[in-house]
Amino acid sequence: MTFTSLTRSNRTVAAVSSTPLPQGEEKAVAVRRMFDAIAPRYDLVNGVMTFGLDTRWRRRSVGALGLAKGSVVLDLAAGTGDFCRLLDDVGYVPVAVDFSAGMLDAARTGAPLVQADILRLPVADGGADGATCGFALRNLVDLGAFFVELARAVRPGGRIALLEVAVPPNLLLRRGHAVYFGHVVPRIGGLLSDPAAYRYLPRSVAYLPEPDRLVAMLVESGFADASRVLLSGGISQLLVATRDRKA
Ligand SMILES: C[S@@+](CC[C@H](N)C(=O)[O-])C[C@H]1O[C@@H](n2cnc3c(N)ncnc32)[C@H](O)[C@@H]1O
Repeated sequence: MTFTSLTRSNRTVAAVSSTPLPQGEEKAVAVRRMFDAIAPRYDLVNGVMTFGLDTRWRRRSVGALGLAKGSVVLDLAAGTGDFCRLLDDVGYVPVAVDFSAGMLDAARTGAPLVQADILRLPVADGGADGATCGFALRNLVDLGAFFVELARAVRPGGRIALLEVAVPPNLLLRRGHAVYFGHVVPRIGGLLSDPAAYRYLPRSVAYLPEPDRLVAMLVESGFADASRVLLSGGISQLLVATRDRKA
């Protein structure tokens, strides 16, 4: 086992070693426990380590949906509900879905909270007008299966906006970002929250496919116009797409 669970003061904390990252069910269990453990301070650490940029990125993602007011938008891997609040602000009807009870307990949103695995959504075919997903793609056990499930749950013509961390294409920025993300963020996270979880964060980027492959996977799943935009010099990426009208 490379990603072990330690019980500490009634909380389960995920501990990460420098050995290979977990896969399959082992990864799903470890990720859920990790978010249960860091939930109480998740928003604080997020805001500090991104200097508040995370809110700007989410706002941009919501703006990219371009749906009619009143549209039902699933916020997948909703965490503490940051996306839901922004979706609500612009007149959408958000529904938060996450498998971590801890994160949902800490959620600050009036949206309905659904505890479920986003690889198996409790939603009828085409039941949603759109979906958002923030910083969760790299945490999934099977990204291809997630995109297929997304295509099933979002109606034809519906829109998706998926936000994720990224590696900047510019060499200088990439080097600076590697130092910040790889060394400073784990220190900040370690001081304010759980050290193991924030050591895992930079390592988990390795789960992400190459950018072209990421877009191709969306196209193959039923989002023919999928595109990728880099945010803040490429430290973050936004994938935007429309569900094909013909299956
Ligand atoms: C980094 S947090 C992001 C939370 C929120 N979307 C945001 O923008 O801050 C990742 C979230 O993904 C959730 N998650 C990871 N894998 C999941 C899965 N298979 N099903 C449901 N939720 C999942 C975790 O519980 C956690 O709340």
